[in-house]
Amino acid sequence: MAPQLSHEQLSAIANQFGTPVYVYSADTIAAQYNRLSHAFAKNDVVFFYACKALTNINVLRYVKSIGAGVDCSSINEVKLALHAGFQPVNVLYTSNGIDFSEIEEARNLGVNVNIDSLSNLQKFGEKFGHTYPVSLRLRPNILAGGNLKISTGHDRSKFGIPVEQLSELLSVVALHNIYIRGLHIHTGSEIKDVEVFVKGIEVLFEMIPSFTELEFIDLGGGFKVPYKEGDAETDIDLLAKKVSEAFADHPNPNGKPLQIWFEPGKYLVSSAGYFITRVNVLKHTAATTFASINSGFNHLIRPMFYDSYHRIENISNPSGALQKYSVVGNICETDTFAWDRELNEVREGDYLVFYNAGAYGFEMSSNFNSRFKPPEVLVIKGAPYLIREREDFKDLLRNQVDISAQIID
Ligand code: LLP
Repeated sequence: MAPQLSHEQLSAIANQFGTPVYVYSADTIAAQYNRLSHAFAKNDVVFFYACKALTNINVLRYVKSIGAGVDCSSINEVKLALHAGFQPVNVLYTSNGIDFSEIEEARNLGVNVNIDSLSNLQKFGEKFGHTYPVSLRLRPNILAGGNLKISTGHDRSKFGIPVEQLSELLSVVALHNIYIRGLHIHTGSEIKDVEVFVKGIEVLFEMIPSFTELEFIDLGGGFKVPYKEGDAETDIDLLAKKVSEAFADHPNPNGKPLQIWFEPGKYLVSSAGYFITRVNVLKHTAATTFASINSGFNHLIRPMFYDSYHRIENISNPSGALQKYSVVGNICETDTFAWDRELNEVREGDYLVFYNAGAYGFEMSSNFNSRFKPPEVLVIKGAPYLIREREDFKDLLRNQVDISAQIID
């Protein structure tokens, strides 16, 4: 079990910085990274943190300090990673349906580029030929992941070049003599069954002989983390064993050992994050007792968007009698975080903490209802540091253009 912040630490942070507030534990990120690197110690493996989960530059710098690279899903994430101090060689841009100009920009920045369509591959070949190595994002036609919204490798998915288009793909590569250095798949998020990765490897091994300059295979991210007691998680030790076996069974036909890349997002930061909110209003109704908090899906959308379960605790009254509450937000939508959830007796003003809020929490937040985005706090060696300020009124007006002179009452 990765180290957890205590109720006392979380309450003190809520008192100091106000609520709602996102809090991240650097120690937990390090512990999760160490679990991965120990499990794969015998393999030539590189981990690129999928920073779409959480991009605060201080988190990026921390991830860099513990030895990981970074996987990006937009050119702006690439620029954030470089800004945070990553060397281009440790930055991977896994593109998806982007304009070719972004691929060109990524190439000019010197980062690793993963191309996901024949169209962009063709354009890349025409312009750069063999001069710059790239990898290919393939769609292996494997159904995996926690739910369809986060499943990306199946045969109706927009992601990657479908493997059945291999001959077309090879023609484009041959025509422009494109330098293909890696093959990539990412089949989804919250994959608990390690066999999915093995199946992916099998698909890739069919294709490896067609690429003579390969140096790595990228198996993406998607390791499942537990959200509640007794929840399954990806067995990382078993995964390491299975991956080693699969590679041992299929020696690289070009004689060169292939490096293995992974892109964990949730695994590194999900359990490191806490979202602390405060109860505004208790409302007793025939159907349920609502605990309305000072937040909503504008701050944490996962429960509404994916039906995700987040453990919630009342850290202000941890020994209060257990009762059922429906935890809802304060925005003008039905934003139910949990229905009839057992919590220690809740009083107005209590702090409710959401666990596993590090991945895709702040990062998917918005200004809906013109509410401010919350601050972020990073705890390093027990000390909390503000790493993003709470927004204020001027942030709501930023970028709005005032044309009042044209609008006559
Ligand atoms: N690599 C690629 C190419 C990806 O598209 C993703 C996630 C990852 C790595 C990292 O996956 P992870 O290890 O975090 O599962 N917002 C959703 C998850 C969407 C994941 C999108 N791609 C959620 O909150 O569950």
